[in-house]
Amino acid sequence: MRVLVLHGPNLNLLGEREPQIYGTQTLVELDAAIAAAAQALGITVTCEQYNGEGALIDALHASREKYSGIVINPGAYAHYSYAIADAISAIGLPVIEVHLSNIAARESFRRTSVTAAACRAVFSGLGADGYVLALRALRELPARSDGGGRQPAR
Ligand code: DQA
Repeated sequence: MRVLVLHGPNLNLLGEREPQIYGTQTLVELDAAIAAAAQALGITVTCEQYNGEGALIDALHASREKYSGIVINPGAYAHYSYAIADAISAIGLPVIEVHLSNIAARESFRRTSVTAAACRAVFSGLGADGYVLALRALRELPARSDGGGRQPAR
């Protein structure tokens, strides 16, 4: 299976950006760890990073033809981008949201993720392991026939 990992804004600064929150691993190192884990899982992975909302939406749209699942860390867009949430809903692929930090335990504005509502699942607060768990979850999803517990939007 082919999976696209999408990193959102400011994640290009991993390693130097608030290391007490996000750790000291650079994005290049994180992507290498994701690639190694993907290989062990038999997944072909591509990692991309965009700071712009439109670029992330374009990447989601383009993923339709090439990938069978997406792992996305939308960064701060998670907290307010209905456009990215709509793009996730539109593409019809399983999308799993990841946050390095535990957004539920931080400032109040981070406790809501509008994009998470469009995703199949969220891993938050597990650092790089969250991406690996998301890859594993995507690999297991096709085996499920019950919709994976996803609730219809109300
Ligand atoms: C983040 C959490 C967001 O609140 C923040 O804006 C980020 C990183 C995380 O991975 O923990 O840019 O998505």
